[in-house]
This record gives sequence, structure tokens and C-alpha cells, in this order.
Amino acid sequence: MTEPTTPTRKTPAPTTSTTTIAEAEEPRLLVEREGPVLTLTINRPKALNALDADTMHALLEALGTAVGTDEIRCVILTGAGERAFVAGADIAAMVDIGSWEARAFTELGHALGDAMETLPIPIIAAVNGFALGGGCELAVACDFIYAARTARFGQPEVNLGLIPGFGGTQRLPRRIGVARARELIFTGEIISADEALRIGLCNRVFEPADLLPKARATAALIAGKPPLAIADAKRALRRSEELSLSAGNELEQQLFAGLFATADRREGMKAFLEKRPAKFHGR
Ligand code: CAA
Repeated sequence: MTEPTTPTRKTPAPTTSTTTIAEAEEPRLLVEREGPVLTLTINRPKALNALDADTMHALLEALGTAVGTDEIRCVILTGAGERAFVAGADIAAMVDIGSWEARAFTELGHALGDAMETLPIPIIAAVNGFALGGGCELAVACDFIYAARTARFGQPEVNLGLIPGFGGTQRLPRRIGVARARELIFTGEIISADEALRIGLCNRVFEPADLLPKARATAALIAGKPPLAIADAKRALRRSEELSLSAGNELEQQLFAGLFATADRREGMKAFLEKRPAKFHGR
């Protein structure tokens, strides 16, 4: 099956802006744009940034805006305050619901995870504190995770009589291996950032004050690359988790060949041969 190549994004947007999504007194999500990098900050610090439906809708809306806005090349996802990235799905919002509403809630969490994985723009999780339950799942739906030394990870849903509901039984074993995922999910144990690093859950650990600057530096590095190539790399890597080796290799060949039709591929090769920096335009 031929995968369509990533469409060129054309809507122009201001290069620097700070806005909020949602009309609530305390906006659930802070959206900050710095050139090609969009930083999304989940903003419920009093509830340790627990995910309720409004917060997830705000995230979905922000991702939709990012993909419809030309020149956003990398997204950083983090949590407000110093204590939490996201301490899980909102337990207060779940305590009195039945299976019907729970099904809608888990579908919303999965829609968010799917939107993050299929976004043709990389998302870096900057985990600044607790990433528990749905928060750990949200981080794992990002392309990779940077963590503060004070970060804590875990899937403690079993303590609530539940299993993970936003992809933890599926994405976590693909990220860290099924035996380690079993151990985390069966015990509900909360692990340190260093342990998360050791088991491959996060890529790098920084002092808390360095977390966002380091995430922004990596985001800026990625933002300077040709976006169509980055989008196709993200697509191929995502599909590698579900395709057979031969089907995945076939997809890679299609995407590789397709990129030869882009102006950025020609510019990248010409710039190399002319010994000058390349200028990429996403075309
Ligand atoms: N939902 C709703 N509120 C939460 C929350 C959550 N997941 N986590 C923390 N809070 C709230 C607390 O209720 C508390 O609110 P009040 O001040 O109004 O009482 C506030 O945040 C601060 O929390 P604590 O007082 O508990 O802080 P602590 O330092 O003593 O403990 C903690 C921190 C270990 C993270 C603890 O808050 C905790 O265990 N939180 C729950 C973690 C959890 O179980 N997450 C999984 C949720 S279920 C899920 O996510 C399902 C899924 O996969 C979709």
C-alpha cells in the first residue's frame, strides 16, 4: 500500500506569540510559540496537572493548530509548576462514572495519543515532575522524553482497581520491553528519573533548571531540519512498531524515493556539494 507523502503546510503564522487555549479562568493549557517551536504547558498545578476531558480537548485543539500552521517544526510538552508533568487522569472526574462514560474517557485519551503519534511534527516530552498513570502514557506518546532529575514515573492504576487506560499496556511495552512494563503495571511502583533512563523510558536526565533549555535546544536543532523528511522519518519509525520487517522496509523505500520529489532534498544535496548551509522550506 502506498502511503501518501506529507502535505506541505501553508498557513502563515506570526513568528512569536503567547496565547491561551480554552476560555476557563485558569486556562488548562498554555501555548507559547517561539519561532518554529511550540511549547504546550498543561496548567492545573494545584491538581498536579491531572488530565480531565477539558485538558485533553485543549491539547487536541493545540495539536490541530500546530499542524495547520506553517513553520511549526517541533513541539515541547511539559507541565506547569515544579511538582508534576501530569500525575495521571483526573481521579476526581472518574470517581463516580460508570463503564459507559469510562469508555468515552479512555477513547478521548487514546484519540489524544493517536493524534500525537501521527502528528507530522516531533513532540518532545519535558517531564518536570510526576508522570504517573495517564501522565506517563502521555509522555510515552511523545516521540521521546527528557526528564528532570526530580521526575518520577509510574503506572499506579492497579492501586485504583484499574489498568492503564491511555495506551500504557500497548505503548509502554513497545518502549521499554514487555517484562519491564509488566513489572511497572503489576506493582504500581514509582521509579526515579535515573531508573527511567536506565530502562530506556527517557532519553536524557537534566538538572531541573536545565530541562526546558535543553529541550528547547534539541527542538531548535530539529526545527532546522527539512520538515518533510522529519515527518516521513516519524511516520516510518511509528509504523516500525506495528509492521512486519518486510512491510516496514517496503514503506521506507516508498518514503525514501518520494522525498526525491521535494525541493528540500535537492537543496540539501546541492548545499552539501557547494559547501554551504542548506535552507529548507518544507517543499
Ligand atoms: N487526579 C486528581 N487529582 C490529583 C491527582 C490525580 N491523578 N493526583 C494528584 N491530585 C491532587 C490531589 O488530590 C491533591 O489535591 P488537593 O490539594 O485538592 O487535596 C493535589 O493534587 C496534590 O496531591 P497530593 O496531596 O496527593 O500530593 P502528594 O505529594 O502527597 O502526592 C502523588 C503526590 C504521589 C503524585 C499523589 O498525588 C498521587 O498518588 N496521585 C495519584 C497518582 C495516580 O494514581 N495516577 C493515576 C491516575 S488513574 C489513570 O491515570 C488512568 C489512566 O491510565 C487513564
